[in-house]
Amino acid sequence: MSTYKDVKRVTTHTLLEMKERGEKISMLTAYDFSMATIVDQAGMDVILVGDSASNVMAGHETTLPITLDQMIYHAASVIRAVKRSLVVVDLPFGTYQGDSKEALRSAIRIMKESEAHAVKLEGGREVLESVNRILSAGIPVMGHLGLTPQSIYKFGTYTVRAKGEDEAKRLIEDAKLLEEAGCFALVIEKVPAKLAQQVAESISIPVIGIGAGADVDGQVLVMHDMLGINKEFSPRFLRRYHNLFDEIKGSFENYIKDVKSKDFPNDSEQY
Ligand code: KIV
Repeated sequence: MSTYKDVKRVTTHTLLEMKERGEKISMLTAYDFSMATIVDQAGMDVILVGDSASNVMAGHETTLPITLDQMIYHAASVIRAVKRSLVVVDLPFGTYQGDSKEALRSAIRIMKESEAHAVKLEGGREVLESVNRILSAGIPVMGHLGLTPQSIYKFGTYTVRAKGEDEAKRLIEDAKLLEEAGCFALVIEKVPAKLAQQVAESISIPVIGIGAGADVDGQVLVMHDMLGINKEFSPRFLRRYHNLFDEIKGSFENYIKDVKSKDFPNDSEQY
């Protein structure tokens, strides 16, 4: 019988090796124990405890309201389920941008209280001091460029980023700065595929795309979107593997019907 000790864990080094040998990295969000168990056992390389929990778990319109305590709660639930995947946790809005000492305190809380393996934060040069300070404490950092949802009120819309030359140039420079600082990987969200490819080819750390085309080192999706739990969200980049909203709703409707008709429980479903 295999034990958890036999499982070869995915580490930040594993991801670098995967990039070197051209093996694509799979990454998916998870926020709770039950789903994280399934994601881990499916063989996902990276589980992201994304601040998209603010949307899909808590029902907020943006990722801004979720707190550090709430992210730690989700991350600790995921960590209790995971035996193999690398677990990366988003630093929520307002916990790392203004003050690098606060950024380090936030990252340490995530690592200590959830026992996650790495943190992710959004932005390039403007958060470099925070990135450096967190890295100096030995905490692995994943960057996030392109569409950065925590800045939605600056952008105004969720449309494709870096279509213009200046923004594209800045994005490439930021990717290099984050690599030089020591980030182990980057997420690039919703940018033209050609630009994402250029970034992936110009740095040696893995670039994981969402809405960034095929020529990057891996892909990430939000679980509720790819399972079709969240029916309202259907951007072009999303591939739906299920229509769980309707399937689950159907099960609930059948249960209600069975209760009302006294079909449930039957003789074999009672003591
Ligand atoms: O919070 C999140 O789910 C993310 C992904 C969209 C990359 O940051």
